[in-house]
Amino acid sequence: MDIRHLTTIDDVSNEEILMMFDAADVMSQRIEKNKSKGHESLLDICAGYNMASLFFEPSTRTRLSFESAMYRLGGNVISVTETGSTSVAKGETIADTARIIGSYVDIIVVRHPWEGAPKVIADYVGVPVINAGDGAHQHPTQTLTDLYTLRKEKGRIEGLTVALCGDLKYGRTVHSLAYALARFKANIVLISAHSLDMPAYIIKDLELRYGYYREEIADVGQAFEKINSHSQNSEQTSTIWVLSGLWSDFFKHSDEIPDIDAFYLTRVQKERFVDNGAKIEYPTFDSKLLKKIKADAIIMHPLPRVDELAYEIDDDPRSAYFRQASYGVPVRMALISFLLGVGPFSDFERTFQKPKFPRYENKDDVKCGNPKCISMQESESQQIAPEFEIVPSDSGSLLRCVYCEREIEYKNTLR
Ligand code: CP
Repeated sequence: MDIRHLTTIDDVSNEEILMMFDAADVMSQRIEKNKSKGHESLLDICAGYNMASLFFEPSTRTRLSFESAMYRLGGNVISVTETGSTSVAKGETIADTARIIGSYVDIIVVRHPWEGAPKVIADYVGVPVINAGDGAHQHPTQTLTDLYTLRKEKGRIEGLTVALCGDLKYGRTVHSLAYALARFKANIVLISAHSLDMPAYIIKDLELRYGYYREEIADVGQAFEKINSHSQNSEQTSTIWVLSGLWSDFFKHSDEIPDIDAFYLTRVQKERFVDNGAKIEYPTFDSKLLKKIKADAIIMHPLPRVDELAYEIDDDPRSAYFRQASYGVPVRMALISFLLGVGPFSDFERTFQKPKFPRYENKDDVKCGNPKCISMQESESQQIAPEFEIVPSDSGSLLRCVYCEREIEYKNTLR
C-alpha cells in the first residue's frame, strides 16, 4: 500500500474527503453508543497501531482530539508537547528526529512553527504524516473538521456563501479552508482586519486553479448589494469577494447582514506578528451582531477565542463553534483510519495523486525568502535544499516553494 500523508489539503481528493465524512458519521454514532453501553464496545480498528503526537507549539483541541481519536480506535499514543523535551533542543534536525520517530510508530501527527516542517517529516519517514498546523501555512485537519461542520449544520457545502473574517494573513486555518471551500464550490467573502489580508498567492490560486470570479470591494454597502444579488441568481459562477481591512466596518454598516450562510471568525494571531506592538481594531461578535445575521446562518471559529467572540452568544443555536470542536474527534478518527488503510478503508483503492507542477532546476540557488519556511532555517540547511515548482500566473510564471508554498517571481530564469 502506498503511504499517504496529509501535509496540505491538496493531499486528499474531494471524493476521499466525503468518504471520510461518511466514516466520521458512523464513528460518531459508535462513540455515542459506546457511552450509553457503559464503554463496553470500544472500537478496535487500530488495535496494535501506535501514533506519535508531536506538538512543538501549544494546542488544546488538535492534540487532545487526535489522541482521543486514536484511543477511541483502540490504538496507542506517544507524545511530545514541547521542543525542550526532545533532542531538537540539542540541535538535532527535523529530518533526523523524523527518521527516528518513524521507526517507533505507525503514524505521526505534527504541529510545528516552521512552515513546511510536516512535509520534511513526510519526506524522511516511512509512515503517514499528518500536519496539525505549520506556522501560518495550513491546518488541513481543522479544515476537514470545518467542512464536516458545514455539511452537518447546513446540509451541503456547494453554493453556500461563507465569510472568512479576521486575521486572514497569519491564520493558517483560513488558508487551507479557502482552498477547500473553492474545491467544493462555495462562495467566499474575505473580510480581513487592517493589514491582515489573505495572502495574494492564495486568492490568485482560487482564480487560476478553480475559476473563481474575484471582486475587490472597498465599499461595504456595495458588498452587501453584490452578495445579495449573487445569492438570488443561481446561475452565477463561484465568486470570491475581497473586503480588505473592513472587518470592523462590515459589521457596523447595517442592521441586516446579507445572504451569508456561515461566518468563520478567527483570532488575531499576535504571536506571529513581526511587529508585536501593532494595534489592530476589530469588532466583538456579540448578541447585537447576532441579531443582524440570517436566522439560519451559523457562527464558526476554530478556537481558541480571545475577544472577537462574546461569551454571551454561546447558547444561541447558531453558535456552532463548540459543536465544530467536538466534530474534531470523529473526523480525526476517520482520517487516521483512512491513512492507515484500516476499518472502513481497508479495501479502499488509493489512486488519487496530488496535483503536481513542473519542478524548477534550482541551479542558481534561489532561496524561498519566507523567514518561517523550514528551507530558510540554518539548522536544517545541511539536509534540506530550497526547492520550487513552476506555477502558472496571470503575469507569466512563478516559483512556488514546495515547503511553505509562498510564491516568488523569477522571470529572468524562466524566460
Ligand atoms: N483549532 C485549533 O487548532 O486549536 P488548538 O490550537 O487548541 O489545537
